[in-house]
Parts: sequence; C-alpha cells; structure tokens
Amino acid sequence: MFFKKKTEVQRVIPTHIAVIMDGNGRWAKKRGLPRNAGHAAGSKTFKEVARYCNKIGVKYLTAYAFSTENWKRPKEEVDGIMNILRDYLKDSKNYVKENIKLGFIGDRSVLDEDIQELMRIAEEDSKNATGLKCYLAINYGGRDEIVHAVKNIVNSGVSADNVTDELISANLYTDYPDPDLIIRPSGELRLSNYLVWQSAYSEFWFTDALWPDFNGKHIEQAIDAYNKRERRFGGV
Ligand code: FPP
Repeated sequence: MFFKKKTEVQRVIPTHIAVIMDGNGRWAKKRGLPRNAGHAAGSKTFKEVARYCNKIGVKYLTAYAFSTENWKRPKEEVDGIMNILRDYLKDSKNYVKENIKLGFIGDRSVLDEDIQELMRIAEEDSKNATGLKCYLAINYGGRDEIVHAVKNIVNSGVSADNVTDELISANLYTDYPDPDLIIRPSGELRLSNYLVWQSAYSEFWFTDALWPDFNGKHIEQAIDAYNKRERRFGGV
C-alpha cells in the first residue's frame, strides 16, 4: 500500500548562515574536562553542521572560530585551538570529496606560517567545489575588518566623495553575500564583534544549547523561525 507524501510547505533556505560557536568551555566544565576538549568537540560539531548545511542547500556558512580578542586567553588554550585548527585543515580533502569549498576571513598574517600554508592548500584544493562555501573566521574582528577596509580605501587614493556603502563592502574580508541568518548558541544574546558591518539586516536566532551539543535539528529550528520573519530592509 502506498501513502501519498505530505506536500511540504515551500520554505526558504537562507543563502548565508553565520554561526557563533559559543559554549565550548561550559560544555567541557560540565563534564570535568579541560576547555580544549570543549573546543575539540566544537570543531566536530562544526564539521557536522557544515555537512548538514551542504545537504539542505545553504550556499554560504561562516563560523566564528577565533576572534581578534581571543589572544587574551591563556596560552595553553590558544595553542589548543590552533592545534584543533591544524587538524581541521589537514582534513580538508574530505570536504573536497563532498563538494564543499573552504575559505577563511580575518587577518591571517599573524598566524603561524604552517597554518597559513594549510589554509592556502585547503582553499586551492577546494576551489572548484560547487556546493556549500564554508568559511571560518580566524583572528577575525568586525571592527578590525572595517579599519582594514578603510586603510585599503585611503591607501588607494579614493576621494571622500567617492566613498560609498558598496566600496566599503568591497573592501571587507567577505567577498560574498551578507548573512541572512546569524545563530548564537549557549544563551548569550550579543554579536561579540562578529560581522558587524555585514549584519545590518540579518535575522538573529538564539538557543540555550551549547555549541558542542548543537546539530541539524537546531539548524532546522533556526530556519523555521527565519521563515516566520518578515524582512523589510528598512521599507514598509
Ligand atoms: C567560544 O566558546 C569558542 C571559541 C572562542 C573558540 C571556538 C573554536 C573552536 C570550535 C575550535 C576551532 C574550530 C574549528 C572548526 C577548527 P567559549 O570557549 O567562550 O565557551 P564558554 O563561553 O562556554 O567558555
């Protein structure tokens, strides 16, 4: 006997989802583990979330992995995050197999040379992938990015009258569309210097789940909430 499949109401998949991977430390503490165990679990979650987004047709995913302010954390924790990043980058071939393109935003010039090299390789290897474009924000700060853009513009000799919204956008690290939906787990309700310029018209979705516990179900909840929002972009 055949059952007629329920017609799903057409939902809009956000083109660009941005996530703030927060709550790794609390997740580890609850289990009596070192903070870096939380970051390692967070990296695993990120890979699963990227695969999920690729499967449902999200075009861009940008995740906040390390901020310009995170250097203030204890050296052991910073080193631990950098090693997790190394492992992630060494695994990049698996993304290529899944047609995921890898990219990075932020000032990478101060990262260890081997990490910069692994980033270049990951970008090169995945450059022809046509599925999800998956970006990690590393040594990224929204204000730092705007300062960097303004410096570029001033250095290129543009006169004040020619400075436009579009020119500033074109000088940011993100050479792709602004986020439609920004997700922050762990119960914190702030932007923390993430995509400050690009989030002007983004929708926000928050959950109390800690990032290592986050999964495709939460992405679905966020997309459902997004579909109930009315985006007016300043119009009526
Ligand atoms: C915020 O949680 C998380 C970070 C500052 C680091 C996030 C890093 C990773 C998930 C690892 C690198 C990722 C990849 C994909 C290579 P928190 O530590 O501030 O959590 P807390 O607020 O509970 O202490």
